[in-house]
Amino acid sequence: MHDLELVLQPYDNHVSEAVKTLRTNIQFSGQGIKVIMFTSSQPNEGKSVVSFASAGSFAEIGKKTLYIDADIRKSVFVRRMHPRARGGEIYGLSQYLSGQKELSECIYHTNKDNLDIILSGPTAPDPTELFEDETFSELIAYARQNYDMVVIDTAPLGSVIDAAIIARECDGAIFVVECGYVGRRFLQKTRDQLLRTGVRVLGVVLNKVSNHKGGYYGSYYYGDYEDHYLDDDR
Ligand SMILES: Nc1ncnc2c1ncn2[C@@H]1O[C@H](COP(=O)(O)OP(=O)(O)O)[C@@H](O)[C@H]1O
Ligand SMILES: [Mg+2]
Repeated sequence: MHDLELVLQPYDNHVSEAVKTLRTNIQFSGQGIKVIMFTSSQPNEGKSVVSFASAGSFAEIGKKTLYIDADIRKSVFVRRMHPRARGGEIYGLSQYLSGQKELSECIYHTNKDNLDIILSGPTAPDPTELFEDETFSELIAYARQNYDMVVIDTAPLGSVIDAAIIARECDGAIFVVECGYVGRRFLQKTRDQLLRTGVRVLGVVLNKVSNHKGGYYGSYYYGDYEDHYLDDDR
């Protein structure tokens, strides 16, 4: 394990209620749920916010948690969380998957108890190919052995197939849906794409629901979102 520690700045708290419900439901989803991924149809629906908050929430209840930023194409993490490594350069997933760095050089402890992290690393020319490589399976095997929970933040399914490839290694997937942003058909199409990988879709976070004070929050629905979000004829 890397002896550097990343110091993360606090981000936002918009989704804490949804995340607590989500955590509870994941815990009741069965023993076999350890590696979970977060995806969505489109960028900006809130995958990173919700997945990172979820990882933090597992860590808070004492689960040894690994957060993997696997949206190599668009990582906002470094800009948003301002991670600082004590005494060194920060390496990430793209460098591990392309063989430039050892896994041990890319996993960081954080200033949050029980939370370790792998950042995305610099943008790579062909991330899809990197996820198909067996180094990715080896990473997941390592994570399964060494952590209680593994949370993977992925690219949106509507644009690239990275998330569908990642899904093959996961026990469950959470779909993040920004309220009123993506049309019904497109949502169904990307949902079907995810289901075809064989991954269990554990539920949906309906995100950026506006509240009466003019703010936004996220809410969590267990099960498929067909029942909750898609009834109206959008
Ligand atoms: N529940 C929420 N309330 C308000 N803003 C949110 C919420 N969830 C996400 N955001 C904002 O939406 C933007 C996109 O979120 P992000 O997690 O980066 O999306 P993605 O990872 O799906 O591209 C960010 O500016 C984030 O702060
Ligand atoms: Mg993101």
